[in-house]
Amino acid sequence: MCGIVGYLGNKNAVPVLMQGLKQLEYRGYDSSGIGIIHRKKLKIVKEKGKLDQLERKLSNNLSAQAGIAHTRWATHGGVTTENAHPHVGPGGKVIIVHNGIIDNYSTLKENLKKEGRVFLSDTDSEVVAHLVEKYIDLGPEQAVSKALSFLNGTYGLLFLFRDHPQLIIAARNGSPLVIGIGKDEMFVASDAMAFAGYTQNAIFVDDGEMVVLSQNEYRIINRQNNVIDKNIEELTIESGRHSKENYAHYLLKEIHEQPESVFRAMGRGGRLLPDFGTSLLGGLNMEKRDFFDIRKIHILAMGTALYAGELGKFILESLTRIPVEVSDASELCGTNPIVEKNTLFIALSQSGETRDTIGAIQEIQQKGGRVLGIVNSVGSTVARMTEGGVYIHAGSEISVASTKAFSNQVTILSLLALMIGRTRDISLSRGKELVEELKNLPGKIQSILDREDEIKIMAKRLKGHSSVLYLGRGINHAIAKESALKLKEISYIHAEAYSAGSLKHGPLALICEEMPSVFICTSGDYQEKTVSNIQEVKARGGKVLVISNYADDNLKALADEIFIVPQSDELLSPLLTVVPCQLLAYYTALALGRDIDQPRNLAKSVTVE
Ligand code: AGP
Ligand code: GLU
Repeated sequence: MCGIVGYLGNKNAVPVLMQGLKQLEYRGYDSSGIGIIHRKKLKIVKEKGKLDQLERKLSNNLSAQAGIAHTRWATHGGVTTENAHPHVGPGGKVIIVHNGIIDNYSTLKENLKKEGRVFLSDTDSEVVAHLVEKYIDLGPEQAVSKALSFLNGTYGLLFLFRDHPQLIIAARNGSPLVIGIGKDEMFVASDAMAFAGYTQNAIFVDDGEMVVLSQNEYRIINRQNNVIDKNIEELTIESGRHSKENYAHYLLKEIHEQPESVFRAMGRGGRLLPDFGTSLLGGLNMEKRDFFDIRKIHILAMGTALYAGELGKFILESLTRIPVEVSDASELCGTNPIVEKNTLFIALSQSGETRDTIGAIQEIQQKGGRVLGIVNSVGSTVARMTEGGVYIHAGSEISVASTKAFSNQVTILSLLALMIGRTRDISLSRGKELVEELKNLPGKIQSILDREDEIKIMAKRLKGHSSVLYLGRGINHAIAKESALKLKEISYIHAEAYSAGSLKHGPLALICEEMPSVFICTSGDYQEKTVSNIQEVKARGGKVLVISNYADDNLKALADEIFIVPQSDELLSPLLTVVPCQLLAYYTALALGRDIDQPRNLAKSVTVE
C-alpha cells in the first residue's frame, strides 16, 4: 500500500524520486506527488491517477538536492489531487508524506481549526504537517518529536523543511521504513526496492524510532529519546529484474515462473533429504526434539496467504497429526486469542508488511506465544519480528494478485509438515515417496503451463457472466476459495467459493444457466461425492467447468469444459490444480480488458488495518 521515498544527495532528486516511486508502483496507489526545495521554497507537484500523469506535470528543468515523494492509497478523503501527498504546513515551512492512518486525526483537526488553522485536504495526514509547523520554533527535530507525541495510529512519515534544505526527518510506527546509505547520498523509503540500483546498504527502522538524515549522516533516536546504533545490512535488492520480459502482464509472467519458484522454495533440492525421506528447513530456530512438544499449530494470515494456510492445515494435520487452526489475522486480535505454551504459531505473508498479520503477531507475542514467519520479502517486518522462520524465495512478486507466492507458501508448509511429520507419524518409505513427489512438481507445473491454450477456451465461458461459483471438497475447498479470490480481484466478476457438500444447503438456489460453476474434482476420498454434486448442478441447467487430475468418460460427459492436470499425491495436488485456476482468472480478466497487474482499489502490500 502506498510508497514513500526521500532523497538527499548530489544528484537531481526529481528523477531519483520518480524512479523510486516507479519501483514502488507495484504496491498499488491511486495518486502520487513529489515535494522538493526549489529556489529556497518548498515546491509540491501532485496528481491523481497513474505516475505518468504526475510525470507529465513535472517540468523538465525542475531540480533539487533533496526531496520526498509518495504514492497514495486513499484511506481518508477521496481520490483527488488536493488529497494526494505531500501536504504542507500552513506557513509553507514543512511538507510531509505519510503512509498509514492517524486514528485521532479528527480531534486533532478540530483543535487546530479552533486555533484558526485552515486545512486544504480531507486527509488524516494533513494534521501532521500542521502540528509540526505549530512547534517549528523549537527546531525541526523537537517539532517533529512534539508532533509525534500527539499521534495515535500507524505511520511511516517523512518531513522536509524549507529552512533546512540538507535535512529529512523520518518516523515510523507500524508502517515500514528503511534507510538506504549511499556514497554522499541518503535514501529513506517504505521499501528498499525504491533505492535499488543506488545502494545495497540499508538499516531497517523499527516502531517508535525517528531518523534524522543529512547527505552524509544519519541519527536514529528511539522512544526514550536516546540515539541508538543499528546494524547496516547488505541487501540483495532485485531491481533491474522488474521487467515483464515477453509477457503481457507481470501476473502471467509470475504464473509462468512457478516451476522455477517452487524449485527455489525447495532450496533447488537442497531443502529435501531424499535418503531420510524428509526435509530440512534452517532458520526455524527449533531442534527436532522441540517438535515433540507441539500440541497445536495455529496459522495466521490474510487473503491468498490465508488460503495457503488452509491448505497447510490439511497437509500438516495429515502428516503430523497435530491439530491445526487457521485464523484470519484481522479477526484474531479482537477475539482475545488463546495462547498456550505448546502451541506453535505460524504467520504467513508474502510482503511481510501486512498490518493485520503484524497486529496478530504482536498480540500473540505479548501473550508469550512463539511465532514463526513464512515470508517472501527478505528483511520485512514479519521476518524481523518473528522468532524464527523460513523464506519462501518466490522472488519479487509485482502483480497485486498473488500467484507464485501462494505456491511457494504451500510448498514450504508441505516441507514443514514433512519435517515435523517424520519425527512423529510418517515412515521412511512414505517420507521418501513424498520427497519424490515434491521433486516432480516443477516439471508437472510446466506441463500444465504448456497447455495454456486449453484454458483460453475455458475463459471464454466465464467472461460473459457476472457471477461464478467455485466448488470443491476437502483439500480442493481451499483451492476453490483461492481461485474465486483470484477471479474476483482481477476480472471483477463476483466469484464465491463453497465446499461442494454445502451446495444443497443453500447455494444451489443460485444455479441456473447464467451461473456457471467451476469444480475442483480430483481423485481420492471425495471424488465420487463431488461428481454427484456436479450432477446436481447439471440437472438444474448449470454450466460446469472442471479442473481434475483424472479423466473418465462420465466426468468428461458431465463437464462443459474440463482441464486435467497430472496425477500426484493428493496432498500436493493443490500445487497443480491451482495453476489452471490462476490462468482461468487471468484469461477471463484479459478478455474483459481489466487492469490486471493493478486491479482497481487494491494494493499489493496492505499496510493499514
Ligand atoms: C492476493 O491475491 C491478494 N492481493 C491479497 O489477498 C494478499 O494475499 C493479502 O493481502 C496478504 O498479503 P501478504 O501475503 O503480503 O501478507
Ligand atoms: N491515510 C492517508 C491518506 O488517506 C495515507 C494513506 C496512504 O497510506 O497512502 O491520505
